Amino acid sequence: MTALPDRFGRPLRNLRLSVTDRCNLRCQYCMPEEEYVWLPKSDVLTFEEILRLVDVFTSLGVDEVRVTGGEPLLRQGLPALVRELAARPALRDLAITTNGVLLREHAQALKDAGMKRVTVSLDTLDRETFRLLSRRDDLPRVLDGIEAARQAGFAGRKLDTVVIAGVNDGELPALVDFARGVGAEIRFIEYMDVGGATRWRLDRVVSRAQMLDRLQRACGPIRAVPRADSAPAERFELGDGTTFGIIASVTQPFCATCDRARLTADGTWFTCLYAATGADLRRLVRGGVDDATLRTAIAATWQARSDRGAEVRAGLPDRAPLAAAATLRQQPHLEMHTRGG
Ligand code: GTP
Ligand code: 5AD
Ligand code: SF4
Repeated sequence: MTALPDRFGRPLRNLRLSVTDRCNLRCQYCMPEEEYVWLPKSDVLTFEEILRLVDVFTSLGVDEVRVTGGEPLLRQGLPALVRELAARPALRDLAITTNGVLLREHAQALKDAGMKRVTVSLDTLDRETFRLLSRRDDLPRVLDGIEAARQAGFAGRKLDTVVIAGVNDGELPALVDFARGVGAEIRFIEYMDVGGATRWRLDRVVSRAQMLDRLQRACGPIRAVPRADSAPAERFELGDGTTFGIIASVTQPFCATCDRARLTADGTWFTCLYAATGADLRRLVRGGVDDATLRTAIAATWQARSDRGAEVRAGLPDRAPLAAAATLRQQPHLEMHTRGG
């Protein structure tokens, strides 16, 4: 499949598919408010509608799908969708990002349905910190969910940690040890000023350089692992061979090689995490257009793409949250939990 280039020559390869905007946690860096405006249920795409769009995307070069949320395991019947996705030979990779709370219940069904990889968000190993950060006392369930993914036989398991100064930045070495112990690779993510992060402040960001400094002091020399892909994580290795990743979206954006697009649960298609507006694919799908028309519309949007949201944000003189809570209530599509993390 020849890749479809955007205005900067970046191919469309990676589709992040949000299957629900609902979540069972309330992480400070994503959903810190008391109230949210949810997508109307009748707007949420059916599995048939999602699969039709996925087939058009794969015909244009997408070969990786990541299922996201909100929390994707809240979507009823998810393994049935996974089974259909896994049966598409065009999809070289099929992964899911989950907060892990419901993973014990669903890991085996996901594996049996053909899900290839699981990434679990894990920000802390301290129960009280978890409770403060996510407003739920669910750390034991998350840890058990991580174990369930191992038991179900998932290879290439990853853990994602959003690092926030004064919250969990003292735990980096412990998290590396934990990941090593459970046979997963951990990635530390700089706290991003995405929509939804209404409490974001620059002085809460722990930079890649600061993370490396802390880890080096606790764990000894660190070596960078060379890489050749468009994935956002830079990988590193400790003296004992343990690897970990850092996603430096704030201080070192990877827009130049960004090949990802995001489809929300209601069929809005965003070509950047930070994009102000998206394309309404639900309207096309429900309006009865044929696949060729859908394909032309999607191809035209990608070819016109010039987004480099994280780079633009990095160039701002006074960086503040992307959107205020009142704006987000008016425009829930700006929310990270609607776009998929
Ligand atoms: P793999 O396919 O396992 O390599 O996943 P990945 O490395 O692509 O990671 P994933 O898609 O799970 O993204 C990890 C984190 O990177 C997200 O949770 C975000 O914090 C950040 N991230 C993901 N997509 C984007 C993006 O388009 N732009 C920016 N700036 N950050 C992103
Ligand atoms: N900064 C960085 N990553 C974030 N995520 C959500 N909000 C943010 C943010 N403000 C990502 C995290 C989380 C996933 C679901 O979305 O990686 O694990
Ligand atoms: Fe946390 Fe993800 Fe839910 Fe946001 S969508 S509250 S990051 S689990």
